[in-house]
Amino acid sequence: MKTNFIKSLPAFMLISIMAFSCGNEDVRNEDNGRIILTPKPGPKPRINGTKIFGVRPGSPFLFKIPATGTKPITFEVAGLPQGLSCDPANGMITGVIETPGEYKTLVKATNSEGSAEREFRIVCGNQLALTPHMGWNSWYVWENHITDSIMRAAADAMVSTGMIDHGYMYVNIDDCWSVKPGSDDPSLAGEPRDKDGKINSNGRFPDMKGMTDYIHSKGLKAGTYTSPGELTCAGHVAAYKFEEQDIARYVEWGFDFLKYDWCSYSKVGNREVMEDLQRPYIQISSIMNKHKRDIILNLCQYGMGDVWKWGKKVGGNSWRTAGDLGGSFEGIATALFRDGFDVYSNDSLHLYAGPGGWNDPDYLLLGYLSNWKGQTVPTPLTPDEQYTQVSLWSLVAAPLIFSGDISRLDEFTLSLLTNDEIIEVDQDPLGKPGFRVARNEDREVWMRNLEDGSIAVGLFNRGEKTAEVTAEWNDLGISGKQAVRDLWRQNDEGSFSGSYSSEVPAHGVKMLRFSSVK
Ligand code: GAL
Repeated sequence: MKTNFIKSLPAFMLISIMAFSCGNEDVRNEDNGRIILTPKPGPKPRINGTKIFGVRPGSPFLFKIPATGTKPITFEVAGLPQGLSCDPANGMITGVIETPGEYKTLVKATNSEGSAEREFRIVCGNQLALTPHMGWNSWYVWENHITDSIMRAAADAMVSTGMIDHGYMYVNIDDCWSVKPGSDDPSLAGEPRDKDGKINSNGRFPDMKGMTDYIHSKGLKAGTYTSPGELTCAGHVAAYKFEEQDIARYVEWGFDFLKYDWCSYSKVGNREVMEDLQRPYIQISSIMNKHKRDIILNLCQYGMGDVWKWGKKVGGNSWRTAGDLGGSFEGIATALFRDGFDVYSNDSLHLYAGPGGWNDPDYLLLGYLSNWKGQTVPTPLTPDEQYTQVSLWSLVAAPLIFSGDISRLDEFTLSLLTNDEIIEVDQDPLGKPGFRVARNEDREVWMRNLEDGSIAVGLFNRGEKTAEVTAEWNDLGISGKQAVRDLWRQNDEGSFSGSYSSEVPAHGVKMLRFSSVK
């Protein structure tokens, strides 16, 4: 009977039935052979990104409510503290809060299809980065070719691709914006500092203030880069002996994020001595604290001296936990498994990070990247390795900073960056980073406790062939019936007891959320 019924169906219906009955809907949505799992955002408003945001009293406040759904969307915020207001047309909350406290607001987004509401907590105190940073950094695609117009185009792309609607916020220049002493390239040469000793930008950045104003006008934030040494890693002027002047300059220019890279500081301090390792960061954060501008401080010293144990104490909001993930283009996958999985687990890095200070295993190396040979080429990570990177980063509460070409985002890469249920794990307000709970040869199970009492679970397969990976309730410290949701597909899988198993592709992942069934 069933066979006859099927025989009588037209071919196109048969194909869709087969895709469903094989449980393999995934294959219907692909971009050049890469399977897209993230469903497209629906027409109704959905409020995304962080649910909690820190600000210091007296600092300018800027937060654009991220929301997807058919445009135009209008915004309302109930319960804003005195000094802040929200522009209903674009969801930008601006102003200054003078009185410290925790303010619970209710954000509402409305469009022609309906409305959505969500609590948004503003915490005015001495802590920034209450959830990991989200944004873009120029290094891995532009390296030493970065310019003002590329930065502005990156801000434009953050908006036009919709990344801003999923919570991406920072648009960060890396190295190579200051003068390069001895360079015979006129766009890099020049006076390193003005008459007051404040750092100058090079000819590729003719108007830094104009550039950050442009970035801010979109509701985004701007980041910059320097080193405590005399020169940055690429040989440009850095902060040594001009720290006060340079921070004053960044404040004038309107930056919101500073990556402070060790580089030539080895000529000043001894990397074997803890006091020397900490000194530049203590110094710079205390200077930053004197200004009424909130600037996130990202320490970049490759994990020396177990920086995760003291990064927050010296004023860091995040600290690189290892060397450059993409230092060797061909070696990115190896670095991902070594530094992302093993350094993190062996040193129990989850114990040290939380609201205000995060482990930073480096950028999301997706999309088009520099191959360090003068070309921009697709990431060498396989599609499954790319799912693995984004999933792991979310589980360990790492900053989600994309460093591929944001002006050339294909559908697959965008889908990796904009899955709101994955981002929700990364941005969970409890701020407890995840950790590995089980390892069986190439199979690993990771978990992260979330604010609502549910847990995020990653089933990883580091092997070369598809394998079944099992999460045991005992390993996860849970019991009873659990409702299981597949986060990449945003799909409920039903209830399970005792354990959950799934096939996981080579170097791939299955990301889940388990909620206790009462
Ligand atoms: C490295 C750093 C990279 C990038 C580069 C710029 O030390 O780890 O992320 O900033 O310097 O020269």
